[in-house]
Amino acid sequence: MSGIRICNTHCKFAKQFLMEDAFIVKGGKPLSGTVGLSGAKNVALKVLIAALLFRDPVRFSNIPNIKDISELIHLLESLGVVVKRDKDRVEIDPSGLNSYTVDLLHGSKTRVSFMLFAPLLHKFGEALIPNPGGCRIGARPIDRHIKMLESFQVDAQYNSNTGYYTAKVNGGKLKGSNYIFDKPTHTGTELAIMFAALCHGKSVIKNAAQEPEIDDLISFLNIAGAKIARRDSTIEIEGVSELTVPDEPYRIMFDRNEAPTYAAFALATKGDITVKGVVQSDIYHFVNKVKETGGGVETIDGGVRFFYKGILKATDITTLPHPGFMTDWQGPWAVLMTQAKGTSTIHETVFENRFGYVSELKKLSARIEYFQPQIDDAKALYQFRIDDTINLSRRRQAIKITGPTTLHNGALYVNDLRAGATVLIAACVARGESVVLGASTIDRGYEHIEEKLRKLGANIQRV
Ligand code: EPU
Repeated sequence: MSGIRICNTHCKFAKQFLMEDAFIVKGGKPLSGTVGLSGAKNVALKVLIAALLFRDPVRFSNIPNIKDISELIHLLESLGVVVKRDKDRVEIDPSGLNSYTVDLLHGSKTRVSFMLFAPLLHKFGEALIPNPGGCRIGARPIDRHIKMLESFQVDAQYNSNTGYYTAKVNGGKLKGSNYIFDKPTHTGTELAIMFAALCHGKSVIKNAAQEPEIDDLISFLNIAGAKIARRDSTIEIEGVSELTVPDEPYRIMFDRNEAPTYAAFALATKGDITVKGVVQSDIYHFVNKVKETGGGVETIDGGVRFFYKGILKATDITTLPHPGFMTDWQGPWAVLMTQAKGTSTIHETVFENRFGYVSELKKLSARIEYFQPQIDDAKALYQFRIDDTINLSRRRQAIKITGPTTLHNGALYVNDLRAGATVLIAACVARGESVVLGASTIDRGYEHIEEKLRKLGANIQRV
């Protein structure tokens, strides 16, 4: 009786306010079957930008059909680049690139627009790019990127009146640099690689980030004639005068960050899902934690199977840069822990605001509270910028989750991409009908998520 009342209220709410940007999910049943991973968002965005370092058209395959890619393509087109897209294939013709200014509208829709510093500085000797600014997961400054560019004799200034970064190459030929990042940065490392690939002489980048997505960018550039070698956190780049278009479209890697999301769908709903396109070593720390918590994991042909084999036990995690437990995986893990016996903790050390899902899970009666973890050296541990004005005791960097809890249905808001996937998992676990408001934010990074979930047995509808 009460289920019907809540269902009607939710449907009315969705129709009134957010028609066409919500999912209606009837949860409470195990999800099982096989799901294929899409191409990696965090590679696709970078190779499409790297294509502007070439003279001739460059082709890629396995590019996911997600909103972040469509926004980037619009941005590239606004600069005179011709883009052809056919399913997962994208061709970038950079020959018409005719502007070194990224307009505010396109720049604000695509966080990675600052990576255009590499091709724009190489082609025009200058670039004007709006400050990407903060987003829901944190302030996300690009000071490390800018400092790195300055080491390559780029003069970069931020104009607080316009909100734009202006960067100019000092002198004639771009020369390589020896640079040590104060702290690793994923996109900062990729920007350094793209930039150094066409500089004169050798560059050595130390304390570089080590995500496998960076290695895929390196592979693409090396196939095109770049000379880049990474050993742990040191990257050596011997500059070349130009890049040559590979004969075959470059096929980017699968999105390993999608795998923990589907693993959580399997384990939290007491189901059994095989994720095709991933190997255990790609998500090593996640797999280890699944084993520790009592979930089933096995490698099977072309993928990894995640299956429920009995009550899970509470297991703590601390997020870290690769090769640690990735920040992108902690939201899905939180839902899993609502179903585990005992109290588990999640300590987020990479971004300062990645608990956007907590208030939403609590609506479903999840037992989650913030706590202050004991830290010896916060500046060393936390990857985000900490200055002396920050009062760490006020920060919300860690949560405790007590379970198992029978989640009930509710109306849930999506705060950011990974928080969106997290509430969707919770909606599939919860008994009854839930509304997930903000489907388009999930579309930024997850390709055809409702089709994939429906094939796994989920009752999900986009409205
Ligand atoms: N940071 C600074 N200053 C900088 C650069 C980074 O303070 O100049 C801070 C960040 O604010 C953050 C920490 O350092 O707190 C780590 O940031 P990093 O630069 O490594 O992250 P990113 O390059 O902005 C990429 C991915 C993220 C992924 C992280 C970690 C892309 C487009 N984004 O972000 O992916 O979580 O690396 O691997 O590649 C996602 O896919 O949902 C996502 C957020």
